[in-house]
Amino acid sequence: MCGIVGYIGNNAVTEELLNGLKNLEYRGYDSAGIALNDNQKIVVFKASGKLTNLNAVLSEKKAQSCSSTVGIGHIRWATHGKPSIENAHPHLSNDGNLVLVHNGIIENYKELRQQLTNKGVVFHSQTDTEAAVHLFAEEYKKCGSLEQAVRKALSQIKGAFAFVIMHHAEPDKIIAVRKNAPLIIGCGNNENYVASDIPALLGKVKHIIHLDDDEMAVIKKDNVTVKDVLGNIIQKKIEKISLQPDVISKNGYAHFMLKEICEQPAILRNVLQKHIQNNEIFLDDAKIVVHWEKVRKVVIVACGTSLHAAMVAKKVWEEWLKIPVIIEVASEFIYQNNLIDENSLVIGVSQSGETADTITALKQAKICKAQIMVLTNRIDSSIVRYADSVVPLNAGVEISVAATKSYMAQLAAFYWIGLFMTQKINKISCLAFSEKLQTLREIPEKIEEILSHRQYIESLAQKLKTYAAVVFMARGFNLPTAYEAALKLKEISYINANAYPAGELKHGPIALLDEQMPVIALFEEGETKPKLLSNCEEAKARYAPVIGIGGKRCSDVFDAYIETPDTDACFSPLLLCVPIQLLAYYTAKALHREIDQPRNLAKSVTVE
Ligand code: F6R
Repeated sequence: MCGIVGYIGNNAVTEELLNGLKNLEYRGYDSAGIALNDNQKIVVFKASGKLTNLNAVLSEKKAQSCSSTVGIGHIRWATHGKPSIENAHPHLSNDGNLVLVHNGIIENYKELRQQLTNKGVVFHSQTDTEAAVHLFAEEYKKCGSLEQAVRKALSQIKGAFAFVIMHHAEPDKIIAVRKNAPLIIGCGNNENYVASDIPALLGKVKHIIHLDDDEMAVIKKDNVTVKDVLGNIIQKKIEKISLQPDVISKNGYAHFMLKEICEQPAILRNVLQKHIQNNEIFLDDAKIVVHWEKVRKVVIVACGTSLHAAMVAKKVWEEWLKIPVIIEVASEFIYQNNLIDENSLVIGVSQSGETADTITALKQAKICKAQIMVLTNRIDSSIVRYADSVVPLNAGVEISVAATKSYMAQLAAFYWIGLFMTQKINKISCLAFSEKLQTLREIPEKIEEILSHRQYIESLAQKLKTYAAVVFMARGFNLPTAYEAALKLKEISYINANAYPAGELKHGPIALLDEQMPVIALFEEGETKPKLLSNCEEAKARYAPVIGIGGKRCSDVFDAYIETPDTDACFSPLLLCVPIQLLAYYTAKALHREIDQPRNLAKSVTVE
């Protein structure tokens, strides 16, 4: 949610900032801008829309020829104020001396705006951010020091923020501060960077410093000093970046999304090899410190796709562990009485590890003394700070805004942790345990088989793209897969897709069905199958085109059918998620959508 880059060194800053922003585009793409500290004058360039629009503005204004070597840049995901040039960052103070970029939300911006307006300050945008730039500028007028002005002003700002700030009179430094929004410093040789996320720094520096909440970094060309709110110096750990620059390449695929879908068998194999050897579960890089004897209930909090992975876990774990597993939408968790205490295990699931809703929910659970576990793809992310146990997902960097491989890795984690817990609390026989491990080990090859038939799914997408709305339905373990299918289809193709428990159709949604409303049913083996088939017949009787996805085709009710290899019903979500991802991908492709960067979305949602 908004990407920030700052650079101070010897190179032409425009190029450095654009390179960094390009690799952060997944965080927002409503507008973009950069500010340069050029011969003690601040110059700002902005464009609405994607980074390519900013490139065009920079070429037109010959910004590339600017000799400045200090600057900050931003790509925006709009919160306050529509995507426009006025609302784009960087925001400049009215005297033109102080400039900043911001990620997060200033909750008391209206009050600050009013106070500043009363003092005669004129506002030019609808953003919450602009209140901060004028507040910093007012404080600067009083003390003449950027560091002090920022420290003074911060005590008046409520909310979440990562600010990166420059002043024309202090061209030797960039100031970076954060609270509940990520920022990292990239440490180079006689040059330093600041950014919202590591991809901005790949190929540029090998070492980084993670800034923590309430810390301020004073970044100069040849040194970085981190201080606390009182100005005391803090010794920070300098960490090596482990990601390779090629993780942000499409490797010949048309889109990151397809590349990431196709990476899933390898990711799953790797996760299973890490955690399962010789019929035993190993923690490997996962740190699990749970007092199992105390756990009376499990609560999982998450959003979006991660929430769907959690819903699969509920179905599987309740069957295996025989304890209640409650799934909560993270953004709702904080407003209700959750009845959790030290006998609750609260699990937060977040690919990015930066989702504000999930982090806030975990903070609240921690106050209630629950044991906290986190499943995340980013072990360097903010969410980890609130966890007693941390399970890395090991899906690799996911660039496409629509989550695919991280979903697979979340499911994989829930399966192996479920088996691990089942053993811990003696709820499974040795035979049943090894049968389950064997079923799990066979999944990657079965996913490869699905991927090898993806041309058929592509041909189905040609038809699907002609409908304005689609219904997904399922029963059992794959109801969450149906929810995920609807989310995936709507977020990248913009076709209105909804998912229902198949039994619920007749209680209302069936009124929607006619020949213009395809119904896609997700099948698994077992007792749900005949009932789901009947629901397909009911849809057909209302003239809806019916598409089936699952094991062997078992009826002529279907207008089309995507066959997947057989597996045990409880493991089938690992298989069925692949054709629904491909169907969404190819439908969006057929509609010429911007697949990796769907409108209005961002990869990392750092606001509540
Ligand atoms: C959809 C998608 C989102 C995320 C949600 C939570 O494809 O990616 O629904 O799943 O924003 O994000 P994380 O997992 O980073 O907490």
